[in-house]
Amino acid sequence: MSLQSTLFSGCSPSGTLTLGNYIGAVKQWVQCQDDYDGIYCVVDMHAITVKQDPYLLRQRVWDFYALYLACGLTPDKSTIFIQSHNPHHSELTWVLSCLTMFGEMSRMTQFKSKSRKHESTVGLFTYPILMATDILLYQTSLVPVGKDQVQHLEITRDLAERFNNRYGSIFTMPEAYLPTEGAKVMDLQDPGKKMDKSSPNPKSYITLLDTPDEVRAKISKAITDSQGRFDTGEELSGINNLVTIYCSLTGEDRSFVINQFEPQGYKVFKDSLVDVILAHLVPIQERYHHYKEDHSYLEQLAKEGCEKAMGKSKVTLDKVKEAVGF
Ligand code: TYM
Repeated sequence: MSLQSTLFSGCSPSGTLTLGNYIGAVKQWVQCQDDYDGIYCVVDMHAITVKQDPYLLRQRVWDFYALYLACGLTPDKSTIFIQSHNPHHSELTWVLSCLTMFGEMSRMTQFKSKSRKHESTVGLFTYPILMATDILLYQTSLVPVGKDQVQHLEITRDLAERFNNRYGSIFTMPEAYLPTEGAKVMDLQDPGKKMDKSSPNPKSYITLLDTPDEVRAKISKAITDSQGRFDTGEELSGINNLVTIYCSLTGEDRSFVINQFEPQGYKVFKDSLVDVILAHLVPIQERYHHYKEDHSYLEQLAKEGCEKAMGKSKVTLDKVKEAVGF
């Protein structure tokens, strides 16, 4: 891929950013900053596909913005903005909705699982079209996400191809970019489920703003394996998940980590894992609190980020309007 290809990604402010979001997505964003034209979005329009408290949502949007910066995104290198500030997202979503088949939306697994827990609104059903819009508006080549978003990337590619075939080659074909370790970090209490910021059980996830005591307590109570093994051979075992978190954060090889800790047992491994997690979280939290002290600075950055984003999205949207006959 050429230098300065566009990379787009975002997180939905429907809870507090978790270690799963960090390992699966945000860590990659920061690593890619020097090599890509990165566009990072707080996707608040996605958040309202399930019921939100408006006051809390607005707070979380700014918390996410500050956390993106605290994790290492910088406005000099990347475009960082808030989705609802750019009306082009709604406009393109309508056009793409008119190309999307009811049947293909019905196959989306996230709708099936989310509609069991939330009201089945049309917005929740068509949410992947909004995500396709986010990506296609910016002529994105690469989308760093966790495994749970792969199906949405596939529908995005289908829509891009359908649009290009019907109206001429307008959209760039995007590809998903998954981390080698940690594309799906699992729930600490139920390793059969992904770690989820919207989970009702706070012990099931670690947030980027958890205190050292909270991290220690959650890791010490995290499910491991009843046989005391490290290499269980089962993808969905609790200990596998903890080893994944360790490897992802340290960059160390899996078999090296297992060989190192197997003779010492879970307690030593968990203590070491807490140290590794805190070595990432504590500096992020210090920078986060620093950014949160100056709200007008965050607003200024978000305004500039949105102007930059809209400069790019307008070019695509104008081509789309022309192509469809508006
Ligand atoms: P969201 O907010 O659920 O998650 C944000 C990012 O974190 C990844 N992720 C995980 N990775 C590993 N393990 C986990 N347990 C885990 N949980 C979440 C997600 O895969 C995602 O990359 N629809 C998206 C947000 C979105 C988006 C986009 C992403 C909207 N438009 C355009 C990319 C491009 C979502 O709800 O992610």
